[in-house]
Amino acid sequence: MTTLYRIFILTAFIFTAAQASAAALPQDMLLLPPDGWVTNRAGVPFSHELHDADGTVACITCHHEWDGEGEPLGCASEGCHVSESRRDPMSFYGAFHDRNSERSCVGCHRTARRDSDARPPVSCNGCHVPQ
Ligand code: HEC
Ligand code: HEC
Ligand code: HEC
Repeated sequence: MTTLYRIFILTAFIFTAAQASAAALPQDMLLLPPDGWVTNRAGVPFSHELHDADGTVACITCHHEWDGEGEPLGCASEGCHVSESRRDPMSFYGAFHDRNSERSCVGCHRTARRDSDARPPVSCNGCHVPQ
């Protein structure tokens, strides 16, 4: 095998691997509370592509318990953000609205607005888009 041919095979392999991992990223999602919860807010559209399009936001920024193997779990998985009490630091609400956490939607969006020209939503209806 010529060296050039080997490089060609290697490049093709890396390209395929990169495509495979891109395909594993979920399509645009509509985030909703766990089944059976009563809420007066509309669901929240969320785009992985927008948040990780060029790999600038690492998966573990949000999927902070993920070990890089298999698929990351959802936020309200057993033992995670399942509490309905907003005073509970592990609450479902806090996972998305904690102003002091860089991995919550609201926390990161506030920092981004302060430190850059980006204008990600921080108002209730900016995320909970009424249908
Ligand atoms: C800005 C935050 C954020 C980033 C960055 C992010 N995700 Fe997610 N991801 C989410 C949220 C929120 C959900 C919905 C979780 C839920 O339904 O509880 C989700 C769901 C998923 C799911 C479906 C899991 C399930 O069962 O609900 C997979 C798979 C996934 N993400 C993979 C990735 C991978 C791979 C990366 C990195 C390339 C990534 N995500 C980066 C926030 C993020
Ligand atoms: C680590 C930082 C970070 C986290 C965590 C994060 N975002 Fe964002 N988000 C951004 C930034 C930065 C932008 C602006 C991107 C741009 O303008 O290019 C953005 C933009 C958005 C937008 C606007 C999309 C548009 O079309 O203009 C929505 C909606 C959004 N985020 C929802 C969410 C939700 C819901 C979560 C939590 C599940 C979340 N984000 C978590 C950084 C973050
Ligand atoms: C940056 C995006 C974002 C902003 C801003 C935001 N939310 Fe949320 N919120 C979410 C996400 C993501 C969820 C989880 C999915 C769901 O329940 O729809 C959620 C869930 C909720 C829930 C249901 C869960 C629960 O604990 O009952 C309520 C109620 C809620 N938000 C109220 C609000 C209110 C009120 C505001 C304004 C003060 C607000 N949200 C601002 C993203 C946001």
